[in-house]
Amino acid sequence: MRVLGIETSCDETSAAVVEGDGAHATLRSLVILSQDVHRVFGGVVPEIASRAHLTAIAPVTRRALDDAAMVAAEIDAIAVTNAPGLVGALLVGLSFAKGLAASLGVPLIGVHHMEGHLFATALEDAGASPPFTALLVSGGHTLLLDVPAWGVYHLLGATRDDAAGEAFDKVAKLLGLPYPGGRHVEALAKSGDPTRLHFARPMLNRGQRPGDDDYYDLSFSGLKTAVLYAVRAAESRGTLDEERAHIARGFQDALVDTLAEKSLRAANQHGRTRIVLGGGVACNCALVEAIRERAAARLGTGAAVFAPGPRLATDNAAMIARAGLFRLARGEASTPDLNAYPSQPIPGLVAAVPQPAPTR
Ligand code: KG4
Ligand code: ZN
Repeated sequence: MRVLGIETSCDETSAAVVEGDGAHATLRSLVILSQDVHRVFGGVVPEIASRAHLTAIAPVTRRALDDAAMVAAEIDAIAVTNAPGLVGALLVGLSFAKGLAASLGVPLIGVHHMEGHLFATALEDAGASPPFTALLVSGGHTLLLDVPAWGVYHLLGATRDDAAGEAFDKVAKLLGLPYPGGRHVEALAKSGDPTRLHFARPMLNRGQRPGDDDYYDLSFSGLKTAVLYAVRAAESRGTLDEERAHIARGFQDALVDTLAEKSLRAANQHGRTRIVLGGGVACNCALVEAIRERAAARLGTGAAVFAPGPRLATDNAAMIARAGLFRLARGEASTPDLNAYPSQPIPGLVAAVPQPAPTR
């Protein structure tokens, strides 16, 4: 089955073709057009994003078909992100997908953007398949899941305030770095001294036990405020230029330590040896390395950590096509009244099953 994926939930217009069955899939083409215009404003402006999607969606889709050496008539189904995201932006991709599906007479499937992120790594490495622990870290969401099978998602924890990517972007702004700031903070942190600033690890202490509300939950707004105070203190000393890299390093170390520890707790408690990362913050090498090191030390031989390459970690239509393929293979399809939603739970999301105390 050949699925055309369409993604317009935020500031990337993307189309991709994926071919396979529910279990295996190959990426035939992927086109991503990033809207640079938002840099000027230091964040995504929804109205501008919608209008930019409108002019880009047709040529981006045509290019994805050309790159796959296909014509539209060879597509078997269309998968489109319909939640969560900016509604005006989602509606552009959704309306386009509906029109194309109707004109081709093929099924349409609405895909949850975060389920897409969950499937991204599997496109590069078939080993990134359930059962696994999932850490989804993007600009809008931070979720820790136990995934016993595709389509079955046990929610273990989530951020109570800012998403991990949002924290990177806000800290980048405080440090005078461009938007989106994650990769700039990571680059700056490389030259920072890890011993200069120690920020408290948010929502992380030794007294936490499985079953406690804060055992898996995350929070980054306090850390961001701590960075703000550090920046102000350095400014008042007139040493901000020398300290910028140390602040970036201290912030990244605190965030990484928290995410890595909570991911390991989840894998350990549910007996998983695989950890799969997704979302833009999964591009962060310090995060991936920290989780790899701890998984090797604490999950034993056979431990494996999967992180998508940068093109599939950040927003793209390949992951949407892949998740859509899984749902279509199960016989699911959306009706023509499919709508767009700013927020919605991932389909198949259920409360976590209580587990016995960890053994390792
Ligand atoms: O998944 P994504 O492309 O979009 C959303 O669905 O939100 O994630 C974008 C986020 C931004 O906040 C960006 O700063 C962050 O991913 N990001 C990074 C890195 N590369 C992108 N954060 C930390 N380190 C990176 N190398
Ligand atoms: Zn995303």
